[in-house]
Parts: sequence; C-alpha cells; structure tokens
Amino acid sequence: MSSATVTAVRSITLGVTDLSASTKFYTEIWGLTPVAESKDAVYLRGTGPYHHLLALVAHPQPQVLGLDMLADDRAAVEALHQSIKASPATQVGAPGTIDAPGGGYGFGFVDPEGRTVRVLTGDARHADTAAQPDKPSKITHAVLNSGDMDAASAFYQQHLGFHQKNRIERMCFLQCNEDHHSLAFALGKASSLNHLAFAMQDVGSVSRGAARMLSHGFVMGWGVGQHTAGEDVYAYFEGPEGGGIEYITKVPDGWLGSKDNTDHWDVALRPTEKQAAAMRRIPFRVEG
Ligand SMILES: [Fe+2]
Repeated sequence: MSSATVTAVRSITLGVTDLSASTKFYTEIWGLTPVAESKDAVYLRGTGPYHHLLALVAHPQPQVLGLDMLADDRAAVEALHQSIKASPATQVGAPGTIDAPGGGYGFGFVDPEGRTVRVLTGDARHADTAAQPDKPSKITHAVLNSGDMDAASAFYQQHLGFHQKNRIERMCFLQCNEDHHSLAFALGKASSLNHLAFAMQDVGSVSRGAARMLSHGFVMGWGVGQHTAGEDVYAYFEGPEGGGIEYITKVPDGWLGSKDNTDHWDVALRPTEKQAAAMRRIPFRVEG
C-alpha cells in the first residue's frame, strides 16, 4: 500500500503511422499546440500549465506507447517507487532525471497488463495559461480497456494511491484529484485505449469544439450529452488513427440533470457502432 499518491495523468504517448496527419489534426482542428519536436515525435500542449498532453511518435502501427502520471514532489516519487517495487509491476526503473521533453524526475515501470507507465515530478510547466475559448487545457481522464478491470483498478489503487470513485457494470473509475476520475478501466478483451478526455472551459466550448469537428467533416460518435458519472458534459469523436477523443467540461452538481443518474439529458446517440469500434482499436504496446 502506498500513502503517496499520483496527482494527475499528465500525458500519453501515442504511436501513429502518419505523424504529419495526426499532428495536423490535433493542432489545426482539435485545438492543441506544438511545444517541442524531434525527427520522429511531436509534443503537443494544451492551454494549461502541463508541458505536453500528447506525444505523437512515428510508429509502424497505431499503439499506445506510454502514460505519464504526476506526483507532488520527489518524496512522493520515492515513496511511489518503493510501492511499485513491492508490486507485481515489472521493469521498474530507478528514480532519476527524465531525458525527454518536459524533463523532470521520476521512474518508469510496466504494469501487470504490460502498459508502460512513468511517474514524475518537477517537470517543466508553462506560465501562459490564460483560458482560450474552445481549446483544451489538459487531459481530464484516460479510459483504458482491460481484460480484467477489477484487477487493474486494484493495482492502481494499491500501488499508486488512486481511489475508486465508483464502479459500474463495465467500468471502474479512479480518482486522484478534484476530477471525478483521472483514470478508468473499461471491461475489454485486451489492453487498449478506450478514450482520452480533453478539458474544455465550459459547455459552450464543448459545443463549439464539437461544431468545429463537424465543420471539418468528422462525425460525432456520442454526444453532446451529460455523463451519468461525474456530471460532466461531453462530445466524443474518433481520433485520427482510432481511439476515442472527448471534449469534456465540468458543470456544477445537479446543474443540468437530476441526482437520478438515469435521466440526465443525453441528446446523443448512444455511442455509434463506429465510435465503439474506435474505442477498441489502439492497443497498448505490451511489455513483458
Ligand atoms: Fe470520458
């Protein structure tokens, strides 16, 4: 058990087959901004302080290559390292300076389902964080498909300090900050990306972001609606090489719906078949 806790899911590294097309989509349509690049990778920030939210890496097939999670300070990183060392995780690295854009101090490991994860602190932050209408500020949550969602949930609770906010038939929601969930596991056949949620500043921004996607010919896969878990307003689309991407914003408790979660408004369309398929398409690179 760890008393230290991860405090956010900062970023995700996505392997993409067409780096320039994915970069163009995420910058010109989705609303992120390039902050660093190398020959084979582009790092994209939101309007918030985090160095980047997405690292897009040229790769032979669409694949999730890693997740970066934050801890408050070096003491927390050290404590989480001890906790992970005593867990079923494999390939646990020693804490040290991170040699990648954004830097920081942390360590990596491979979780029991083979996902590559890094826990870090002291990473570079941006000072120019004024809200920009209709652009995402951060990743609110990552939802991952798992062959055993309860085991995955238990691992992240026991060893990284997440708290299971709630569990429904097909999902476990894990909390580590003020957001309803930062990480969730969905029942699936394999370890893959279900979706990434990007925070928008208000309901109007979700709606205008969705309209921007529609104007570029993208079809909304689910939404606009209000989640039954978390009181959040959402619009889901399919990412350029699969995977779900979601605009999301928090609304005050009870603002739009009743406390009875069954009758929250949902203009949607339940997830279309195409959207549901996208939310199973990008596998994690599985490390032994
Ligand atoms: Fe979501």
